[in-house]
Amino acid sequence: MSRYAQRARVVSTFELPKSAQRALSRHCDLVVLPPSSADLLQRFPPGPVRGLLCLLTDLIDGALLEQLPDLSFISSVSVGVDHIDVPAASAMGIAVGNTPGVLVDATADTAFALLLSAARRVTEGDRYMRAGRWQNQGWSPDFFLGKDVSGATLGVVGLGPIGQAMARRAQGFEMEVISWTPSGREVPGVEAVSFEDLLARSDFVSVHIARSETTRHLIDAQAIAAMRPGAVLINTARGDIVDDYALDAALREGHLFAAGLDVYAREPLPSDSVLLRNERLVLTPHIGSATYATREAMLARAIENAIAALQSQPMPYCVNPQAQPH
Ligand code: GLV
Repeated sequence: MSRYAQRARVVSTFELPKSAQRALSRHCDLVVLPPSSADLLQRFPPGPVRGLLCLLTDLIDGALLEQLPDLSFISSVSVGVDHIDVPAASAMGIAVGNTPGVLVDATADTAFALLLSAARRVTEGDRYMRAGRWQNQGWSPDFFLGKDVSGATLGVVGLGPIGQAMARRAQGFEMEVISWTPSGREVPGVEAVSFEDLLARSDFVSVHIARSETTRHLIDAQAIAAMRPGAVLINTARGDIVDDYALDAALREGHLFAAGLDVYAREPLPSDSVLLRNERLVLTPHIGSATYATREAMLARAIENAIAALQSQPMPYCVNPQAQPH
């Protein structure tokens, strides 16, 4: 038998940079799946697979894991792991790695960019000019009015590292920052309030909480109705924490002033989504962590996780350490 016959096989669901491929290939037989719309499992090569490198768009549910009896680790190039059935993975002894820490600032920057853009109608103004409409309108004192950011109150939902980074940015803009987080975490300079108080007091609400069964539609029609009239909602966490339809309706009715979204219940956002036709929405295509340096750092962590697992070592960034080798 050749010495390569026993090498572990690792499948990557996406094309890796050559340097990452080289680093991984020193430790395993790496199979990069070609892009396809077919089901993930149907794209797998025949034979045992020891590790899986994936993205947040890959749905790794219990049914898929059952088809992969040799799998011992999953390394996701994301901090969120809500696309993976982690309890099922843990029950099967499959360690799940993620990439925390390195995307905090990039994601908070995106959230703040959406906040400024929604408040001051930046993308709406851009569309207006490109459509050649300014020439007909001219300029007047009530032209393209927006909301003040400085001095306003920001409500941060979820005070993990990204929520805290958002709070720091807001403080730099002299905003009052209040926060609600299920863990009750307190951070100096940020007033901890109840969810109801946060909705009632905030001029801007920014969502930074992980998706789970309990946070799905946390911002539903009732929560939106409880927000201050004329408030602005920002979501860079996960799409289905906010009820899209309720948000769209609240914007059309004028209850909310604007919203900025980077994440959607279905991604890519279907081209017939009502959100695309709402002028008061600033939309970006899930680019919270999309800077060159951040993506490089995320990939480095994912590769580090995979190599550790291939060497039967604990992954340095693991969400279910109980499933790791001890
Ligand atoms: C981005 O949304 C991530 O979870 O990495």
